[in-house]
Amino acid sequence: MLIKDPIIDSRTLRVDRRTIEESPFFHQFETVSVEDVPLNQFLSFDVYFPMTSDSSKSGVTFKKIVNRGDEFPAKLRNFFLQNEIKAVYVKKDEYEDFLNATLKRMAQIIENPYLNPAKKLEIVYRNAGYVTRMIINDPKAGKGIEHAQFIVEYYTRFVIAHQVSASLISKFFSKDYNLFAHSVQVAFLTIGFAHFIRQPVNLIPVIGIGAFLHDVGKAMLPAEIINKPAQLTEEEFKIITQHPQLGYDILKHHKSLRKDSLDIVIQHHERADGNGYPNGLKLHEINPAAQITHIVDCYDAMTMSRPYKEALSPFDTLKIMCTDMKESFNSKLLELFVIFLGY
Ligand SMILES: [Fe+2]
Ligand SMILES: [Fe+2]
Repeated sequence: MLIKDPIIDSRTLRVDRRTIEESPFFHQFETVSVEDVPLNQFLSFDVYFPMTSDSSKSGVTFKKIVNRGDEFPAKLRNFFLQNEIKAVYVKKDEYEDFLNATLKRMAQIIENPYLNPAKKLEIVYRNAGYVTRMIINDPKAGKGIEHAQFIVEYYTRFVIAHQVSASLISKFFSKDYNLFAHSVQVAFLTIGFAHFIRQPVNLIPVIGIGAFLHDVGKAMLPAEIINKPAQLTEEEFKIITQHPQLGYDILKHHKSLRKDSLDIVIQHHERADGNGYPNGLKLHEINPAAQITHIVDCYDAMTMSRPYKEALSPFDTLKIMCTDMKESFNSKLLELFVIFLGY
């Protein structure tokens, strides 16, 4: 049962994002989309919404709007969506319960023959974002990797079943760089590309999970460098170049990850001309799965904006990749990637 109905009548429904983030309670919560809270089932987590009380000027309080053990009322969800409010909140210690519920729902949605591929894709993209958040927050925990493998399996099935194009895959992509979106986008595009170039069906999810986790080592580096809103100094760049090895070192203990996936993590910055890092491998020494991911990784990074750099258009990105940067890539794969993107 809905605890109360104050939200529907509230005049303070729209609390701006900054005020929410400045709340001393914000760090206790994870933001999730109201569309991913399942309907018609008893929830295994509480759902919160930040509100400013009319009488107080002291920031926001997170009000519990649905109790664990109750159902999320469709009426409330519709109300949020009609008002273009997407974010609700779950407590960090119940995030895993939320994830289990939303991933189960995602699997059902993917297998529903009546939903259109774009809608399915939007839901998988959001769920992949939740899982990435869990992995980046705690890269050593196995649970996030298990969830990522679950998503990659379902997403691969979806790509094969619907023959999705690169433009549909990238329909919901973020244009602003952040590690979460970049990880998901590289995974989704790599899986689409691997299918396009007819990689064996059982190898595609193996490549996909490697692509999903390719930058996980960045989670071990100082946040000030990773999120620096300006060009990196030479010294900082040197620190960044440690991330393939760091990622590999975290992931090599996970028994469920295959060698091809781990090769992607450690080799995705190796270049065809031998000038890459960390090991300066030559083209024939680089796992083809890592050669594929290297192309997609560069493409995705260049088409996203940074505070100090505007995003390039897909066309301009490919132009640079095929000219100034061409020594970096396997030329045959790059040619196929251009065709995959529809140019
Ligand atoms: Fe990287
Ligand atoms: Fe990357």
